[in-house]
Amino acid sequence: MVLSVSAMASMICCFVFVIFISQTTASHFRGGIITWRPDEYIGNKINFNFRLGFRRSVNRYFCDSAMVARQSIVGGGEVWSASHDRGYYGSRTVADTGYHCTDFSVSEDWTQGENTFNYTFPDDGPWLVSYSSCCWISLANGGGSWFLSTTVNLTRRQDNGKINSSPISALSSIVRHQQGCSKTILIPAEDSDGDKVRCRWSVGSQRECGGVCQRFSSSGTLDEEKCTLRIHSNAALGWHAVAITLEDFPAYTTNFHTATPFSHVSLQFLVHVSSSSGPCNRAPLLIGQSPNDGSCEEVPDGGIFYSIIEAKHVDSSRRIAEIITVTPLYMKLTNLLNYTDNVGDNVYYKNVSWSPKSSQKGRHIFCFKAIDHYGVESDQGCITVLVGTSNTPRPILSTRTPLIPTLYWPWGSKSVDFNITFDQQVICATGEEIALSKVRLKTQLALRNEAKLRGYLREASIVQDFVICLVERPM
Ligand SMILES: *[C@@H]1O[C@H](CO)[C@@H](O)[C@H](O)[C@H]1NC(C)=O
Ligand SMILES: *[C@@H]1O[C@H](CO)[C@@H](O)[C@H](O)[C@H]1NC(C)=O
Ligand SMILES: *[C@@H]1O[C@H](CO)[C@@H](O)[C@H](O)[C@H]1NC(C)=O
Ligand SMILES: *[C@@H]1O[C@H](CO)[C@@H](O)[C@H](O)[C@H]1NC(C)=O
Ligand SMILES: *[C@@H]1O[C@H](CO)[C@@H](O)[C@H](O)[C@H]1NC(C)=O
Repeated sequence: MVLSVSAMASMICCFVFVIFISQTTASHFRGGIITWRPDEYIGNKINFNFRLGFRRSVNRYFCDSAMVARQSIVGGGEVWSASHDRGYYGSRTVADTGYHCTDFSVSEDWTQGENTFNYTFPDDGPWLVSYSSCCWISLANGGGSWFLSTTVNLTRRQDNGKINSSPISALSSIVRHQQGCSKTILIPAEDSDGDKVRCRWSVGSQRECGGVCQRFSSSGTLDEEKCTLRIHSNAALGWHAVAITLEDFPAYTTNFHTATPFSHVSLQFLVHVSSSSGPCNRAPLLIGQSPNDGSCEEVPDGGIFYSIIEAKHVDSSRRIAEIITVTPLYMKLTNLLNYTDNVGDNVYYKNVSWSPKSSQKGRHIFCFKAIDHYGVESDQGCITVLVGTSNTPRPILSTRTPLIPTLYWPWGSKSVDFNITFDQQVICATGEEIALSKVRLKTQLALRNEAKLRGYLREASIVQDFVICLVERPM
């Protein structure tokens, strides 16, 4: 079996940002995403998964913890529709837009949730599956109607003989930014086929973004390959919608201008820019037992995933108001709990448990951050959870040499070299790139269960600890 290599790493990462809350007004849309993968058994049947965010104070989107526990459906009454690329068929309704509420915030006035549907297409397409309606919350720039879409090409891929799976991602509906401070958001971008995922600004002519196309491109800089968005410190005050398109390319792709992606997925969310007199770093921190950002967990069939998200504030006079999460369907979280640690600080936490349904086999992203009463938020942490997997090769951390890799700057980019041994055989081509959320590793050598990896660090200065999610890829 040949395994390669879409991987994740985590490291010490201490960027703190300060943002303030202001009242949401006007209309109700808060962003979303739709992704898909082929059914395991039935050709032309595609299983979709979508997340949507709406204003909580609108009655039909209201949600509380009892409704999360009951897996109530909120919203709905509108449609996901599919239209054929070559127009052989009229536009057809493929599903209702109602979703199971999974997350909500009282202070930020939003609900977010997830739902799945499947559809058996009459031919290979490509099909454009979309949801559009009105309106976004009032924005500093653009707005009005939303348009969320994905392309579904059911022609079997030449490289693996299978129908493609789209990239996946997860982000909370609202990212808060304090004017004058710096902030870089990492957009989780993964692909279960092991494809290379790129992020670009969405384009209206490709029916990706409705009234918010490229409206944030003057307020932020997108690194298309790393999928990071740097918010400019002088971004205008108020609400902004960010419309990004994720595309999956063959893993060896280097020239993205000439390559054709297998699919696209729109990801839309809000950035709120506020003015503040507080310093940029007075923010909550994720601590203790919180999973390392970018790490990878497995849940074997019938297994249960447990975790604890813990946070405390750098300013002990401030309280943490909420731990905000983006959770897969059926994940359970406790209310916000607290205890006093051995240095007398208040630690706030939520316990997390998840028994995935058998239909949830595959790759999921779980994200979390803490926010205080002033609307100042911690960095977001995201982890990958592989459901139905129990044999992902894991690097044996103690075998890493050197144990603390040192940074150097070969071509202006930050880079580390280290060797590491896996607990089982891993084969990947020399020079093959492993796309990671925080680190990019280049395999120099992969013999038996040893791999020499070169990591290109994005942000942090020390590689602390990591687990690599590998995906199976045929020869
Ligand atoms: C597909 O959709 C049908 C009807 O909505 C549902 O009964 C079925 O459980 C779905 N199958 C999967 C695999 O999601
Ligand atoms: C659909 O997928 C097939 C197989 O990967 C590819 O050859 C074809 O060009 C794709 N069609 C479009 C319109 O992208
Ligand atoms: C800790 O939790 C208790 C019980 O929910 C609550 O009454 C108390 O205010 C919390 N303490 C802090 C410092 O937030
Ligand atoms: C949270 O998890 C901890 C550690 O597993 C456990 O001791 C505690 O009882 C849990 N609390 C709740 C409310 O579930
Ligand atoms: C990694 O292993 C190779 C061959 O075993 C060795 O030549 C090289 O010096 C090692 N690199 C590091 C950073 O330890």
